[in-house]
Amino acid sequence: MSKLWGGRFTKETNKLVEEYTASISYDQKLAFEDIEGSIAHVTMLGECGIIPKEDADTIQKGLQTIAEKIQAGQVEFLVEHEDIHMNIEKMLIDEIGPVGGKLHTGRSRNDQVATDMHLYVRKVTNEMIELITKVQEALVEQAKHNVDTIMPGYTHLQRAQPILFAHHLLAYFWMLERDKERFSDSIKRTNWLPLGAGALAGTTFPIDRERTSELLAFSTVYPNSLDAVSDRDFVLEFLANASILMTHISRLSEEMIIWSSQEFQFIELDDSFCTGSSIMPQKKNPDVPELLRGKTGRVYGNLIGLLTVLKGLPLAYNKDMQEDKEGIFDTVNTLDGALKLLAPMIATMTVKQENMYNAVSNDYSNATDIADYLVTKGLPFREAHAIIGQIVLYGIQQQKYLLQLSIDEYKTFSPLFEEDIYAVLEPKHVVEARNSIGGTGHQQVLKQLELAEEKLEKMFC
Ligand code: ARG
Repeated sequence: MSKLWGGRFTKETNKLVEEYTASISYDQKLAFEDIEGSIAHVTMLGECGIIPKEDADTIQKGLQTIAEKIQAGQVEFLVEHEDIHMNIEKMLIDEIGPVGGKLHTGRSRNDQVATDMHLYVRKVTNEMIELITKVQEALVEQAKHNVDTIMPGYTHLQRAQPILFAHHLLAYFWMLERDKERFSDSIKRTNWLPLGAGALAGTTFPIDRERTSELLAFSTVYPNSLDAVSDRDFVLEFLANASILMTHISRLSEEMIIWSSQEFQFIELDDSFCTGSSIMPQKKNPDVPELLRGKTGRVYGNLIGLLTVLKGLPLAYNKDMQEDKEGIFDTVNTLDGALKLLAPMIATMTVKQENMYNAVSNDYSNATDIADYLVTKGLPFREAHAIIGQIVLYGIQQQKYLLQLSIDEYKTFSPLFEEDIYAVLEPKHVVEARNSIGGTGHQQVLKQLELAEEKLEKMFC
C-alpha cells in the first residue's frame, strides 16, 4: 500500500473515490501554512523531548528544503496523496528518509488542517485590510478634489437635497472603515491555535501547546479539543465580513454605473477602465463596476455554502469540512481583484462638476430650506411644510423653480417671506446651512476629511 494510512486496507482505493475525495488540486494553496505549522510543531516536539532534537532539526531542514522547492515550482503534487498535508509528509520522507515519519507524532490531520486554515485566514484578513485602505485613500483623494462640488442628494432615487460630492464619497469611506474594523476584530478569534487537539480528543504525548502557539504567534490555544478541530467560525466570519464589504462595493458600483449613464452624466470613467461593444461603436460600457456588482453574488454564495455545510454537522471532524476551502479561496480572489480595481477606478474617474451643479439648479431640492426659513421666522414646522407643498405645486404648474418665483408670488403664500429668501435658496447656501455634525455643510465635510485622514494615518503607525 502506497498510502500513508494504508495499513488496515486490503484493496487499492477506487480511482474515482481517490479523485473525488482528494483536495490537493486546491488545498496546495495552503502549502506554506502547512509547512509553517509543521515547523512549529516539530520544534516543540524536539524541545519537549518527544522526539530527539537532532531528528527535529533534520525534519525542520527537510521542510525548509521542500518550501524552497515548492517556491521554485519544482514539485509535483499527486492526487494519490490526497491533500496538501500528506503530499508534504510524503515529500519529506522522500527527502530525509524514515525520520520524516516522526513529524506526525502527537498530531492529526484534523488539528493540522484547522491550523493551516487559521494561518491562512489570518494572512488574508490582513491583506484585505491593506487593500481596503487603498480604496479609502482613493476616496479621500477624490473627496478632497470635490469639497466644493455640489450635487443632488437622493432618497428613493428622487432628488432630495443638494449635498457635496465629497460628502457622498466619504459615506463610502466610513462603510469601508467599519468593514476594516470587522476584519481586524475577527483576528482575535482567528488567533486561537487548534494544533495539539489531535484527531479530536487530545494526545497522549506530553506536548506543549502554549509553546506551539507562541511559535506561530497565536494569542491562545483552543481550550477544547473537539471544538478545536470542528470550529470553522473563523472562516464563516471572514466570509460574512467579505459579504458585507461586497454589499458596500456593489452599492458604490451601482452609483458609478448610474452616474456615468447618458441620463446622469455626473462622472466619466477612465477609458482604461471601460470596454466597448462589439456591435455598437458609440458604447463605452462600465463593465468593471457591473462585474463588481455581479460578483457580489458569488461572495454571498460562498458564505451560504459554508453555513450550509456546517449546519447540523455532528462533532467533531467530518470530511464535509474539506468543503471550507474552495469557497474562501474564491472569495479572497474575488475581493482581491475587486479592491485592486476599485482604488484606481475611483482615482481616475472624471467628475463632471458642472452637470452636477446644473442638476441641483433645475429642481425643487431646495424646498426644505423654505420650510426652515419660515420656521426661523416663527412658524411651526408642520405649518411651514404645508405651505411649501403648495408653493412647489404652484411652481410646477407655472413651470418655475423656487428661485424663479417673484417675491409677490411668495407673499401670496405667507406674509413672512422677504427678499432674503433668495439667498437662502441658492444651492451653495442650502448645502452650507447643513452645518450639524455629520452634515453636508462645507465645514463639516472638512472636519470629516480630517477625521478620515486621521484614521488612515493611525493604520500605519
Ligand atoms: N483534506 C482534509 C480537509 O481538508 C484534511 C483533514 C483530513 N482528515 C481526515 N480525518 N480525513 O479537511
